[in-house]
Amino acid sequence: MNKRTKIAAIISSEKANYETTVKGWVRTFRNNQFIALNDGSTNNNLQCVVDFQNTEEALLKRITTGAALSLTGEIIPSQGKGQKYEMKVSSIEILGDSDAEKYPLQPKKHSLEFLREIAHLRFRTNTFGAVNRVRNTLAYAIHEYFQQKGFVYLHTPVITASDAEGAGQMFSVSVLDKINPPKNEDGSINFKEDFFGRATNLTVSGQLEAELGAMALSEVYTFGPTFRAENSNTTRHLAEFWMIEPEVAFNDLHDNMDLAEGLLKFCIQQALTKNADDLEFLNQRLSEEENQKPTAERSELGLLQRLNFCVENDFVRLTYTEAIDILKDSNHNKKKKFQYLIEGWGVDLQSEHERYLVEKHFKKPVILTDYPKDIKAFYMRQNEDGKTVRAMDILFPGIGEIVGGSQREERLELLEKRMDEMHIPKEEMYWYLDTRRFGTCPHAGFGLGFERLVLFVTGMGNIRDVIPFPRFPKSAEF
Ligand code: 4AD
Ligand code: MG
Repeated sequence: MNKRTKIAAIISSEKANYETTVKGWVRTFRNNQFIALNDGSTNNNLQCVVDFQNTEEALLKRITTGAALSLTGEIIPSQGKGQKYEMKVSSIEILGDSDAEKYPLQPKKHSLEFLREIAHLRFRTNTFGAVNRVRNTLAYAIHEYFQQKGFVYLHTPVITASDAEGAGQMFSVSVLDKINPPKNEDGSINFKEDFFGRATNLTVSGQLEAELGAMALSEVYTFGPTFRAENSNTTRHLAEFWMIEPEVAFNDLHDNMDLAEGLLKFCIQQALTKNADDLEFLNQRLSEEENQKPTAERSELGLLQRLNFCVENDFVRLTYTEAIDILKDSNHNKKKKFQYLIEGWGVDLQSEHERYLVEKHFKKPVILTDYPKDIKAFYMRQNEDGKTVRAMDILFPGIGEIVGGSQREERLELLEKRMDEMHIPKEEMYWYLDTRRFGTCPHAGFGLGFERLVLFVTGMGNIRDVIPFPRFPKSAEF
């Protein structure tokens, strides 16, 4: 019988002087007497004090870092500093031994790079315990936000035959013989023989299918894995990441911005409320890391200050054109400090430009709108000027782009024209165009990169450390 009290419950309660059982993994065992036990319910360990004089030597030897234990005893106010309660252990059961010599996680500080190599065990560190609990809160908050508003959670396919998004390279899905695939007369691979009778890929985005849902259910959102086979070895890109994509009928770009800003603030607030201990720990962790940097490179705000700042302040909203003017006239540009200098209108912004706007110029989250149509997807609503589209990107400090979205082109003729210009096969996309043929209406949506949100809220520096088992070029371990 799994009768146990979670350590989080013991620590947060006002109760003392009662007997109970705790189960967890040994973090440290000091002086043959003090076990620091962690069960993942909180970042805090429970100090469990063993009566070593009356415990068999052979049993004591098995209390090693990493071992799984069941401990029964009395919870009493702690004698020592650093904790409110401790357990006076009366019975010890070893559930699983852990050879201290071979256990890869020694009770000392390990580098994040090393921990990535032992990702199967890194949940057992303070940092990854905290990150994964915060990740959980954020995932739940996403559902809460949309459910409270009456949105329908829509499951879009993971395997698709369309690359309408043009968002990046796709991973192909095929069961054909890799060495000797069936060929067409012209030598190309004959996908008619493949599982689905056509070429298929892992999805880069659920948006197009979400639009179909919104054209009947009004307000939908997706929350699922998406895949991009770009060879981006950065601290902001994964090959497999989770995306949230709401799509709302009758919304324009302003409604879309309000929905996204509200979502981000709600999620951050939920983490502040529900993960106070974890965020306190991550705040401390980040400030230690910042202190290693030269003063000029340190960020002005600590993690908690940053999160509160985001919740309490309106995001700045401006157009791409206004942003280009700011960037072009900036001292940074004039002194050639950007790797890619801003010379004129029309160029895509690099992450250095996005971060300059957010971190140096406005010192606030920024929503940029109305980008040049040539650097955005075909489905974005065209503006009167003939040059720009109703796009929006939300830029966050330390992250750059966290949200990308737009009001959609609901006018059939204009949409078809744009598809032709961009060489997007209209026949294959008949189902998408049908929404514009039958009862079309203004609508808008966006995509929030879930790991970028977790990155921001935890203050971690690398997106590979905010998803349990990251997939990136040359790495699909575990
Ligand atoms: O800007 P993106 O490519 O937009 C879309 O896919 C649209 N279909 C969304 C929509 O309007 N429904 O991606 C959306 C967000 C980005 O802002 C970023 O946060 C995240 O997804 N993202 C990535 N996150 C991690 N690794 C990658 N390789 C990512 N690519 C995009
Ligand atoms: Mg984008």
